[in-house]
Amino acid sequence: MTATMLTTHQKLPSAGPRRETLREKGQFWTPQWVAEAMVTYALRSHSDELFDPAVGAGAFFAAAKNMCRRTSRNIRLIGTEIDALALSQAKDAGLTDDDLTGVELRDFVLNGPDRRFPAIVANPPYIRHHRISAETKGALKYLTKQIIGKTLDGRTGYHVFFFLKALERLSSHGRLAFIMPADTCEGVFATTLWKWVLDTYRLDAVVTFTHDATPFPSVDTNAVIFMISAEHPRPAFQWCRCNQPGPFLLDWVESGFPEASNASIFALTREVNEGLETGLSRPLQERHDGLVLGDFACTMRGVATGSNEFFFMTAAEVAARNLPFSYFVRAIGRTRDVEGDMLTMKHLDELDAEGRPTYLLSLGSTPIQNLPGSIQRYLQKGAEIGLPDRALIKQRKPWYKMEKREPPPFLFAYLGRRNTRFIRNKANAIPLTGFLCVYPREIEAEENIWLLLNHPDTIANLSRVAKSYGSGAIKVEPRALERVPLSNKALEDSGLSHLIKNEQRRLAL
Ligand SMILES: C[S@@+](CC[C@H](N)C(=O)[O-])C[C@H]1O[C@@H](n2cnc3c(N)ncnc32)[C@H](O)[C@@H]1O
Repeated sequence: MTATMLTTHQKLPSAGPRRETLREKGQFWTPQWVAEAMVTYALRSHSDELFDPAVGAGAFFAAAKNMCRRTSRNIRLIGTEIDALALSQAKDAGLTDDDLTGVELRDFVLNGPDRRFPAIVANPPYIRHHRISAETKGALKYLTKQIIGKTLDGRTGYHVFFFLKALERLSSHGRLAFIMPADTCEGVFATTLWKWVLDTYRLDAVVTFTHDATPFPSVDTNAVIFMISAEHPRPAFQWCRCNQPGPFLLDWVESGFPEASNASIFALTREVNEGLETGLSRPLQERHDGLVLGDFACTMRGVATGSNEFFFMTAAEVAARNLPFSYFVRAIGRTRDVEGDMLTMKHLDELDAEGRPTYLLSLGSTPIQNLPGSIQRYLQKGAEIGLPDRALIKQRKPWYKMEKREPPPFLFAYLGRRNTRFIRNKANAIPLTGFLCVYPREIEAEENIWLLLNHPDTIANLSRVAKSYGSGAIKVEPRALERVPLSNKALEDSGLSHLIKNEQRRLAL
């Protein structure tokens, strides 16, 4: 390699402009301090070549060149990329035509190279499932079945298929380092995926990052690096949390993943089974055999209307359309419409006065001809704009039938940074999909359960079941909320301590 070398601090082109293209193609460049650590791990396989299936602006090639310079090794750079423009950015960043001769412009996942590779590194495109076409989804399903013998949930993102395909292309004794969003081990598909990975390969290390050290500060993802070798699985792996960006991560990899606890890095050995159960992106957690939130409450997502613009409106709009109020229920749509932890009827009326919708047209199965004339005319308008053919609405019979929910005593705002919180629903409002409904199993215990939900231990434990995003944002799905572990202190402080004894008795049986 004759080209100018990039230093650790030289910047690759920023991912700032062309935001939409970036999302479509998943183009977010890896910083050099992270790329160097990943490349160093992969090249420990003593390979004389490095394969990057998603070359982009060449972050890993640049890192490999730096490493070659430091260690006087000679490494052949090979890769695939679908976007020629990204490769031209690689040249702007200091890579030469010579460095890029081993890059083929082709789709790695669906039309990848036939051969295997002893050292693979990637930051695969992070494309969420709803941006993948039905045709591609079909092909990915087929591919997954071929590789792991099963399919993965339809909500699996593109990066996961990149990961599977790369593992399949890894030579025996080869090494692979992938940086991916935390949903890779927190999503609904994660257990199936990781059972296969951990039964088939050896997990050497998992690297996570605090907010201060995030490799992609402008993107809403919590990144995790997986370092995996094509060797017999082992029962333990090394887990680390990077507290600061810098050369510490490379040092940690070069020193063979030592245990550490300092300002830059916290690292320890963990059991693979525990990691699988906890979620590899999350810190070590003690096993919780006690009570969980689902023992006290059941949860459901809020109502999905299929078209808020049509079904959800203000009182003024109800009146202007001459629709009878008796066909409406009061509802709450956006989490930011509720400040604090209490929702009252006065609050709903204030929102309505501000022009925020709080009236939900809540029709049942009554045939259209038996509904009042004004409603018939309004539904006719809905039909004219094609609502009956919309994805969610299409599944309903008749198309205008609204999902039903009992007003939940508690709402849960399940997505956000500081905003995930429980809300007391004194308005008996029906929540839309921005919220989860929380119903106490015993209505007499409502006051205690309110205390339990808001206990600091319960709030802190949300992260044990949540999906994590950038800057500390989390998302808790309904089933996951029921799995939130409850501490004995939370139960005692909420006046539910008698239940701890019952539970201990049950566990002893
Ligand atoms: C997240 S970027 C990573 C680029 C670079 N390796 C880095 O880490 O900075 C992912 C790259 O994968 C490319 N890509 C997307 N789909 C691809 C596919 N099916 N096959 C090959 N490359 C693909 C995108 O154009 C993008 O440049």
